[in-house]
Amino acid sequence: MHFLFPLFVILLQSPGDRAGEIIGGREAKPHSRPYMAYLNFSLKNKENKCGAFLIREDFLLTAAHCWGSSISIILGAHNIKKPEKTQQKIHVLRAIPHPQYNNRTFNNDIMLLQLEKKAKLNRAVDLLPLPRMKDRLKPGKRCIVAGWGWDREEKYSNTLQEVELKVRKDNECKDKYHRYYNISTQICAGDPKESKASFKGDSGGPLVCDRVAQGIVSYGNKDGTNPRVYTRIFSFLSWIKKTMKAHEY
Ligand SMILES: *[C@@H]1O[C@H](CO)[C@@H](O)[C@H](O)[C@H]1NC(C)=O
Ligand SMILES: *[C@@H]1O[C@H](CO)[C@@H](O)[C@H](O)[C@H]1NC(C)=O
Ligand SMILES: *[C@@H]1O[C@H](CO)[C@@H](O)[C@H](O)[C@H]1NC(C)=O
Repeated sequence: MHFLFPLFVILLQSPGDRAGEIIGGREAKPHSRPYMAYLNFSLKNKENKCGAFLIREDFLLTAAHCWGSSISIILGAHNIKKPEKTQQKIHVLRAIPHPQYNNRTFNNDIMLLQLEKKAKLNRAVDLLPLPRMKDRLKPGKRCIVAGWGWDREEKYSNTLQEVELKVRKDNECKDKYHRYYNISTQICAGDPKESKASFKGDSGGPLVCDRVAQGIVSYGNKDGTNPRVYTRIFSFLSWIKKTMKAHEY
């Protein structure tokens, strides 16, 4: 298991002043990804950071390994260190990790978060659609991942960063991650020849293909190399719908 590395904080670095980025990415145009949420939580008395994304006015999706106590969410943010007028900080009413989430293999690494009150949708805060049957992913497809996570120098970013990634063949992740990679619940993405990847702190953010949420940043090799593994949202559509329906207010 030492080669698996959940994309959230384990080793706490002293936070640097310099802006960081997703590996090989660029700063996103402010509020161009209005579904993105910044998430922090506490686990074993340490602060951890993740991404999440809005799928209903009162529900976000993230990774189950972003579960902890005092989960807090900021919607409508670009620079999370600035008091931007667009930001909405709403308390989390309930966190619902997938009941079959396995914290050893990272299978079923998906979690729903219900907000205490509905987010106000506007130019800076909006929903990201879930995949439909016809949106089936194929290797070679270009997708975007965004987050406030680590760059190559292992520093967090204050501003939202984004990078384009290509979906890879399942076999590439089977070769790299062996039995941990599950074809039915996971997506393999990121060209091994390119130094472009999601990294620590990007967990829980969406892999967006044609403006649809297809994956959730889950795990990868500790050194930041590709390909990396994303939870396949398509496999969890009925769980997502059923769970959100059970918690209407
Ligand atoms: C999350 O960040 C906020 C500042 O944005 C801070 O006040 C809060 O204590 C942090 N939560 C945890 C669990 O570390
Ligand atoms: C994984 O889950 C088990 C059972 O819920 C728990 O005892 C254990 O501490 C967890 N391990 C990690 C690394 O979170
Ligand atoms: C893949 O995940 C599914 C859903 O959790 C599970 O039923 C199946 O046994 C897993 N397959 C392998 C090979 O672990």
